[in-house]
Amino acid sequence: MSKLAADHNAINLSQGFPDYESPAELSNLVSKYLQEGKNQYAPMAGVPLLRQRIAEKVYELYQHEYNPETEITITAGGTQAIFTAIAAAIEPGDEVIVFEPAYDSYAPTVKLFGGLVKPFELAPPDYKIDWQMVRKLISSRTRMIILNSPQNPSGAILEEEDIKQLIAITKGTDIIILSDEVYEHLVYDGKQHLSMARFPELRERSFITFSFGKLLHATGWKIGYCLAPQILMDEFRKVHQFLVFSVNTPMQYAIADFLSNKDYYLELGAYFQRKRDFFRSMMEQTRFELLPCQGSYFQSAGIRRITEEKDIDFVKRLTTEFGVAAIPNSAFYNKGNDYGVIRFCFAKREETLEKAVSLLTKV
Ligand SMILES: Cc1ncc(COP(=O)(O)O)c(C=O)c1O
Repeated sequence: MSKLAADHNAINLSQGFPDYESPAELSNLVSKYLQEGKNQYAPMAGVPLLRQRIAEKVYELYQHEYNPETEITITAGGTQAIFTAIAAAIEPGDEVIVFEPAYDSYAPTVKLFGGLVKPFELAPPDYKIDWQMVRKLISSRTRMIILNSPQNPSGAILEEEDIKQLIAITKGTDIIILSDEVYEHLVYDGKQHLSMARFPELRERSFITFSFGKLLHATGWKIGYCLAPQILMDEFRKVHQFLVFSVNTPMQYAIADFLSNKDYYLELGAYFQRKRDFFRSMMEQTRFELLPCQGSYFQSAGIRRITEEKDIDFVKRLTTEFGVAAIPNSAFYNKGNDYGVIRFCFAKREETLEKAVSLLTKV
């Protein structure tokens, strides 16, 4: 969709990236460390100071101490962390439960390592998980459950009841959780992000993955990290060592320095909530039906008041005829389920959102 948007000079609300810069202070720190000669290989697990800062941040947010030496690894983005966790845990024939709509890397990676994807389809408007049905999907071959909260593309989040059910379902099993928490700070309306790190019964079986791209408005930097108890992290690092070995050094120093400013990330939720509210209030003028958005920087919208077309056909037409690109949510389902819902990314400047909505009012 990004290519189609570029070809047609459309406003790109499809792919999830900001159209504004990360803080100048951060870029200055990158330049500083480049010039200071922090340009050689970092240690395999990541620059120690950055791992220390992450440990402090996680403790502050979720009240659990991960050991920076043995339980935190810096990766080349969230996607590499996800890939590495799956590679470390999955053997041919293992079953992996994936909640759909899902970020597109999970299923292909599971398949690459011979795993069997067991999709669990969630439906609009609220994408709630029916845990009784999840129980039915679990077998003696279930090796992993992949979770993503706040979820891309639905904007749904895990609530206390989900956590209770997850604890009950995994108790007494060897099931590993892969929890993709790249949008951890983007939770709205006074709700809390329920990281696996908060819950002893869950964190002991979890790889938790994060992305500095999302945290720092710098998706092109491709840097992130993984948290896991040592027994899992040992396996993770065996893959990581030969997949990337180590991640780019000056960025790691710069991020470590930058993260000492806690206010930056503590204010991120409110910052994106303002964008969400701005976008939603303007979208009231259109014929799109806004779905709930409790987290992430994506707003899903129903198109059935406008058209009976397939979501994919509609978004192509939206791009070429109306000049706004979005993603069809059917792309996030293995079977291409089309609920007549599309996804807009609101991590954009106000003027971009304003321009986009003025075009969307014509639809
Ligand atoms: C749910 C989810 N996980 C992971 C990623 C990837 O993060 P990164 O760009 O750091 O690989 C994204 C990016 O869009 C995402 O939406």
